Amino acid sequence: MTTARLLPGGPVAEQILAEVARGVAGLRAAGVVPALATVLVGDDEASVGYIRIKQRQATELGFAAPHVRLPASASQADVHAVLADFNADAGVHGVLLQYPIPAGLDYDRALQVLDPDADVDGMHPVNMGRLALGLPGPLPCTPAAIEALLAFHGVPVAGREVVILGRGATLGRPLAMLLAQKRSTANAAVTVVHTGVADWPRYTRRAEILVAAAGVPGIVRPEHVRPGAVVVGGGVRYAGRRLLPDVDPSCDRVAGAITPRVGGVGPVTVAMLFRNALRAAVGRSRAEVDQQGAVVGDGGAGGGYGGDRR
Ligand SMILES: NC(=O)c1ccc[n+]([C@@H]2O[C@H](COP(=O)([O-])OP(=O)(O)OC[C@H]3O[C@@H](n4cnc5c(N)ncnc54)[C@H](OP(=O)(O)O)[C@@H]3O)[C@@H](O)[C@H]2O)c1
Repeated sequence: MTTARLLPGGPVAEQILAEVARGVAGLRAAGVVPALATVLVGDDEASVGYIRIKQRQATELGFAAPHVRLPASASQADVHAVLADFNADAGVHGVLLQYPIPAGLDYDRALQVLDPDADVDGMHPVNMGRLALGLPGPLPCTPAAIEALLAFHGVPVAGREVVILGRGATLGRPLAMLLAQKRSTANAAVTVVHTGVADWPRYTRRAEILVAAAGVPGIVRPEHVRPGAVVVGGGVRYAGRRLLPDVDPSCDRVAGAITPRVGGVGPVTVAMLFRNALRAAVGRSRAEVDQQGAVVGDGGAGGGYGGDRR
């Protein structure tokens, strides 16, 4: 029997997307058509589907959505050339290089070609550096999604003990930096555990907020959770189309609040991509958005990109 309060991502994503739609409409009214470009290399079936969904959603939100698809036989230089073209195109504001790219190509090297201000995934090394320093810039989507999800559901984070299982570049590491920042929705005592900490349950059992970020199905079990704790399932693995979350469903019985197996962090992550795209467009077009995402005029130097960082 589930006793934990559910923390769904759907309403959080809806709120963010509504703000993005308002911001896009404001930019369009100011004569700027925000554009989110996507690049897909190869024929990975899941990636083809993801890109299609993102393009459709971008168009629905009012973005232009130019797309380049390269064959699996493309060279590293071909990928770099497409990204460099988008960097140079003043009509393109955000760029997404769909992960993964075919074996033999280096995703991280390609990412470094991208203009960091156009990096809607927030994964460019410059953006990781900005995050570490608390400077404005696109935030990595999943960590930003988790902070937003907790804030939306009124889960206090400031001053509390957060334990993150996993130190990966996509989730655990940037989330630790984000939640340790001095801001009312963060400001936590953050601990990160991983395979180097053999007795990691000792840490997770004392967490007031436990974030699973390992990508190991079922790794978090009830005996790893402090009774009444908030449990956030970030890590997932896919077996074909089947989603296998890190958090075992039986944790529902111990946790005080928990993200649902499906429809938790995922939809908010996608919404963050579009928020980054809007901010990239605002930054490049030198307009400004207010806290609700509405465009409030010409901001002059740079615009309000990533302005809620601190
Ligand atoms: N929900 C979403 O929207 C979303 C979006 C993006 C990513 N994700 C998911 O987030 C997860 C993390 O991705 P990532 O790229 O940040 O991480 P990653 O590079 O896959 O690293 C996984 C981390 O988990 C740790 N780990 C793995 N097995 C462990 C074990 N048995 N005991 C203790 N620690 C263990 C690893 O420790 P070591 O460092 O010691 O190896 C590593 O730090 C993935 O499942 C990914 O699918 C979810």
